[in-house]
Amino acid sequence: MDQEKFKDLKGVLRKDFYWGYATAATQVEGGWNADGKGESIWDRFAHTPGKVKDSSTPDDAVLSYYKTKEDVALLKSYGVTGYRFSLSWTRIIPLGGANDPVNEAGIKYYSNLIDELLANNITPFVTLFHWDTPQTLEDRYGGMLNKEKYTPDFVRYAEVCFERFGDRVKHWITYNEPGVYTLAGYAAGVHAPARSSNRTLNSEGDSSTEPFIVGHTELVSHAYAVKLYREKFQKEQKGMIGITLHGNYSEPWDEDDPLDVEAAERAREFEIAWYADPVHKTGDYPSSMRAQLGDRLPKFTDEEKKLVLGSSDFYGMNSYTTFYIKHKDTPPELDDHSGNVEKLNTNSKGVSRGPESDTYWLRTAPWGFRKLLNWIWNRYHVPIYITENGTTAKGETAPTEQVLDDKFRQDFFNGYLEAIGRAVKEDGVDIRSYFAWTFTDNWEWAAGYTDRFGVTFIDFESEEKKRYPKRSAFVIKDVFQRMVKED
Ligand code: NOJ
Repeated sequence: MDQEKFKDLKGVLRKDFYWGYATAATQVEGGWNADGKGESIWDRFAHTPGKVKDSSTPDDAVLSYYKTKEDVALLKSYGVTGYRFSLSWTRIIPLGGANDPVNEAGIKYYSNLIDELLANNITPFVTLFHWDTPQTLEDRYGGMLNKEKYTPDFVRYAEVCFERFGDRVKHWITYNEPGVYTLAGYAAGVHAPARSSNRTLNSEGDSSTEPFIVGHTELVSHAYAVKLYREKFQKEQKGMIGITLHGNYSEPWDEDDPLDVEAAERAREFEIAWYADPVHKTGDYPSSMRAQLGDRLPKFTDEEKKLVLGSSDFYGMNSYTTFYIKHKDTPPELDDHSGNVEKLNTNSKGVSRGPESDTYWLRTAPWGFRKLLNWIWNRYHVPIYITENGTTAKGETAPTEQVLDDKFRQDFFNGYLEAIGRAVKEDGVDIRSYFAWTFTDNWEWAAGYTDRFGVTFIDFESEEKKRYPKRSAFVIKDVFQRMVKED
């Protein structure tokens, strides 16, 4: 821990603050077709040549499906009080549909994991959907492009999870980063299900409409799952439920240019308020989006509006970095999803947004993270649960002493955790959890195994995917031991 940074931050976080690591089923489990698991759109994507950077698949990932005890013991040694993971829909209902059978082997795997966590005093935070739509639903009716057919299937899946795990799981997240799912999967086309107007990707799709249709389906199906939880389970199970949204901070490129100041706010609205305003503020999309997109942005019915508004017990926040935002003088393209802005690495004075990681979009910028916490708190006034934040670092190719003493990542966490402490202490923001991304190196979607976000190095060459703790895991532990109030 960087002592200087945390000098005056002792005990600033609530004593029931949860901290730990987040993961996602596809990225860590492996056993992609083991014990009856069905195919997800990510299995299909990875098995299609040319889609993943290093041509890898998540077939084995880090084998966490087979390592429940070992992994929970490692989490325990890192001192965590919470662990956020996602359920694989096709492990639980292999074909995905409301009338399709439940796979007991899948239920058993998650049940054991939950029990093992609880036996070690680690609170499970469970995500229902982290991008792995059942392939069968994609084939049957186009997945989330078909709100009417998809919603009952998602809600039934959620119901099975509440029924089978809700006696022990008290923190539910319906969707992880719905906006990234839509933009990467239906606009850029670089994630499953790989639809895009960009025909060089050899894909079908219409990026000017589909991302917004899919986003609408996510919001409405989320709201129906929450309604079911609240009506049927919440009273007895006494848990909370919400949605986790992505969002990096947008800072004006030239803070003295009103057009850039406006553009930065518009960028925040297109990226974050797209989902957050309907859920936490108005029951509708921001007016800046309606102004640019017109009828390409779906409309909520009155019933949907009522259901969506207030449908999250907390603000689930994933954030990694900050960009400088410059306005454009030309009218927006038909497939623009940014609010017609340019995203830059340096501002008008030539100041860089932060040191480069090993991931093209990610730079260390804790200054923007603190501003973002304030922006979210001031706009929505709901307790914030930070559900993901972390970084890659250059040159992590072998578990050498230098790689395991991961200075770059330690600096990242020192900076971001200090920002949290100060946002709570000095700005009065209500923050209730922090989950670092991520527990171990894993399968980073279209980047395959090339982007390592873990505080644990994985030797992907070894048959057992050997785990090597990096020093950052213990830096994070020290920081929380200092910042969380003692009993
Ligand atoms: C957010 C996603 O939820 C997660 O799956 C991904 O690995 C990280 N960002 C890092 O890119």
